[in-house]
Amino acid sequence: MDYKDLYKLSKEAREFSYSPFSGFSVGAALLCTDGSVFTGCNIENSSFSLTNCAERTAFFKAVSEGKRNFKAIAISGGKDSADAPCFPCGACLQVMSEFCRKDFKIILSDRIVTLAELIPYSFKL
Ligand code: THU
Repeated sequence: MDYKDLYKLSKEAREFSYSPFSGFSVGAALLCTDGSVFTGCNIENSSFSLTNCAERTAFFKAVSEGKRNFKAIAISGGKDSADAPCFPCGACLQVMSEFCRKDFKIILSDRIVTLAELIPYSFKL
């Protein structure tokens, strides 16, 4: 699976976004080191604070099915279908740093960054 295809899968996952409160739909596609892929979308809630981001949906799906080794995540999102880069929030970066190494790749619409570039200090691995 190349990163272009992974990004495409994130766009497909975005179609499932439940985001009536923000109108900001997000999709994520998480690539495991064994080649399997788990997708996720953001799922909002009227309480607001219970909203789950697309990235954490993908991670929690994967970890709950026994996966713990990850290579990359592609993320697409925004208010409309435009391809502006959608950076993961602090909560999602914290979850990523629990399971991923510093060179874990984050695939955005126009760039690829590493996890350590976005959250330099909080690593277990
Ligand atoms: N959101 C994500 O799902 N991932 C991101 O990387 C940025 C933010 C969601 C949370 C909320 O449902 C909406 O986008 C607006 O913040």
